[in-house]
Amino acid sequence: MDGVTIEHIGEHVGEEVEIRGWLYNLRSSGALHFLLVRDGSGIVQAVAVRSDLPADVFELAGTLTQESAIIIAGPVRGDPRAPGGYEVALRRLHVVHLADPYPITPKEHGVEFLMDHRHLWLRSQRQWAIMRVRAEVERGMCDYLDDLGYLRMDTPILTPSACEGTTTLFETPYFERRAYLTQSGQLYNEATAAALGRVYCFGPTFRAEKSKTRRHLTEFWMLEPEAAYLELDGYMDLAEGLVTAVVRRVLERRRAELELVQRDPAPLEAVRPPFPRITYDEAVERLHAQGAAITWGDDFGGDEETVLSRQFDRPVFVHRYPARCKAFYMQPDPARPEVVLGADLLAPEGYGEIVGGGERIHDTALLERRLTEMGLPRAEYQWYLDIRRYGSVPHSGFGIGIERTVAWICGLEHVRETIPFPRLINRLYP
Ligand code: 4AD
Ligand code: MG
Repeated sequence: MDGVTIEHIGEHVGEEVEIRGWLYNLRSSGALHFLLVRDGSGIVQAVAVRSDLPADVFELAGTLTQESAIIIAGPVRGDPRAPGGYEVALRRLHVVHLADPYPITPKEHGVEFLMDHRHLWLRSQRQWAIMRVRAEVERGMCDYLDDLGYLRMDTPILTPSACEGTTTLFETPYFERRAYLTQSGQLYNEATAAALGRVYCFGPTFRAEKSKTRRHLTEFWMLEPEAAYLELDGYMDLAEGLVTAVVRRVLERRRAELELVQRDPAPLEAVRPPFPRITYDEAVERLHAQGAAITWGDDFGGDEETVLSRQFDRPVFVHRYPARCKAFYMQPDPARPEVVLGADLLAPEGYGEIVGGGERIHDTALLERRLTEMGLPRAEYQWYLDIRRYGSVPHSGFGIGIERTVAWICGLEHVRETIPFPRLINRLYP
């Protein structure tokens, strides 16, 4: 009877269980109270029947406020009319804490109000479902890489230099000097990949993005695999396998949550290899055909990605971008040095880029030249150049953004709902 969670209540039909949780909602009709009780793992209905209970217990049940902390006990029975298919016949009720009037009620609230109450909003079913999908996505990604023999290597948060351009660095005092919050663990991954072969890092990354869009956070979580002797096509195979595995896993294990957020599973069922792979050149042609005003050499913005990603029924790789719109470390295509051996993966249904990566420059002189061209201080990158000096090999890797992936899988409007406490240009609270 101890330790039963609502998630597993179906395994206890006919038994008396105790549930420790909170009151999600109360509905009364004369001789009955219907208590929706949540315990973090799910929601179950407990039914209090006046004639079955001591008068004070029945009355107490009727006075419960939303989000009061309660422990209930009673036998479990199957009932197709109950949410989730099971209900508890209330026998005992212990009020741990009677909650103050709760600010989030079943009525509609504005986004800013909900964001101000994010610490409470997380208790709502829709947010609960999204968090469960997020956790599944994270576990699925790590399991996929672990099974392939990738080792998780945690990379530093405090760094002396930039990985993804100097315009989005968060600076922080570091004793007598300054440090930057990491934009990506990639550079360190390249060093650990030379030491351990196949690695990944997984952690928070930071960008002082001035963009106020539905895809940008200033703090987001990124999973970044890196492998020695991996080339562009191998990277795309790996990313394709990972994304496919994660989507399948969510479909298998978090279908009820997808239903709660009203996600149509059909487009997710279509996510199967091979993913189309088009060049940047072809992408530009497709954009022109749609009337977009992009010029060759420009990076795609959210609008271009949306147009492109709507043209395919599954994620699409765009490879060989112009060197001038990508980071300093990208390996030029030997056949055409004005483009690089990098690729982004765009999620379908208009979601756009969820993965960025490619081959890294493995030639010391070329890398030094690119650092200079980009105006990056060579002294800070000596250790990074060493990776090219001692047993340099072609190597590749990528970063997949957790929040954008979850937004796509759940079919959400905005990434702010995909992380427990989003950090946006205008939001640092709570
Ligand atoms: O394309 P990005 O900038 O690539 C890198 O950081 C590489 N160093 C990764 C690597 O090769 N190891 O970022 C990778 C992914 C994007 O595709 C996107 O999913 C996510 O990180 N991302 C963001 N997500 C939310 N908010 C932002 N501001 C993001 N910036 C990037
Ligand atoms: Mg990118």
